[in-house]
Amino acid sequence: MLRSRILSTGMHVPEGLVTNHDLARIMDTSDEWIRQRTGIEQRYWVKGNEATSDLALRASEIAIERAGLQKHQIEMIILATLSPDHEFPGTACFLQKKLGIPGIPALDVRQQCTGFLYSLSIADQFIRNGVYRNILVVGAEVHSKGLEKNDRGRDVTVLFGDGAGAVVLGAVDIRDPKSEPHILSTHLHADGAFAEELWTPAPGTGNSSERVGASELENGLHWPKMNGKTVFMHAVKRMPEALIEGLKANGLTPSDIDLFVFHQANLRINDMIAKQFEIPEEKVFNTIQKFANTTAATIPIGLDEAVRTGKLKKGMLVASAAFGSGFTWASAIYRF
Ligand code: UT7
Repeated sequence: MLRSRILSTGMHVPEGLVTNHDLARIMDTSDEWIRQRTGIEQRYWVKGNEATSDLALRASEIAIERAGLQKHQIEMIILATLSPDHEFPGTACFLQKKLGIPGIPALDVRQQCTGFLYSLSIADQFIRNGVYRNILVVGAEVHSKGLEKNDRGRDVTVLFGDGAGAVVLGAVDIRDPKSEPHILSTHLHADGAFAEELWTPAPGTGNSSERVGASELENGLHWPKMNGKTVFMHAVKRMPEALIEGLKANGLTPSDIDLFVFHQANLRINDMIAKQFEIPEEKVFNTIQKFANTTAATIPIGLDEAVRTGKLKKGMLVASAAFGSGFTWASAIYRF
């Protein structure tokens, strides 16, 4: 049976460590507020002019090397980001140029916090159908260049960090789907009725006359806007739904899962889900304390950290779920 499996992981965060105390020096916030409401203690922001594709490049090189592959053996690049290098072309093309592997397809996925799971699902379909054998799947963000670092933007700005995570997804011919590592399932969802609950309005053709003109800039439409309470309410409903859907599709229960690697938007969201499913604390791998919300990169960063800290070992059954702007939400169940 032709299936895909995660061959390797890689991650990279920039050098600029920014603590909650650092933010409290430039806006009306506090370490106490950020920790209590979100669990975040620090994040990394680029110091110089690094772009999203630069962080993606480092994470990708590590993942490719750990897969035991040469770059030219990668047959497709899928990159999820909401903070592209430029308006167009897609950041996957800039990453491809930096990797030096021209000719193969390079696809951007714009599904924000759910972007990595959407990308994993797309890659899985290509591999299951026998089209490609090795696909590089990346989630990468440079948020810090697009955050309003003042009192008006504090509700959003304190939440986000820069970083990249990558996996190489490879084709495997499996005989025993119960024990052999592979992607068991992915389930994807969206509801555009909530598109404006978490979004950056400009630049874009949805604006009155110009994609980004003087009035958009004056009104701060190029900064992200979030209705935090609404997002939170939907996240704690939709992530469990996607998780149950994935488990049911495979005849599994939460207790069958060895490790949960969720999207990292708020520690309280993940704690609520863990409580709802009676998942023991040690089975939920959180990284938000160290890296904040790196959007499309949270899950691949989580996988890589979990591997490097010995929490995630070959053969373990893993469940991931994510929720975010769109609204979009998804789950993936995989034996690592
Ligand atoms: O991955 C993308 C998906 N994003 C999410 O999942 C985020 C989901 N939402 C959340 O995590 C939470 O809603 C937040 C952490 C963003 C906010 O927590 P909250 O408990 O919903 O706080 P709130 O928005 O109701 O704000 C409470 C108070 C307000 O002041 P008043 O009106 O009570 O006087 C805010 O103005 O906290 C104020 N506030 C802040 N204070 C200090 C908002 N941001 C800050 C801040 N520092 N950074």
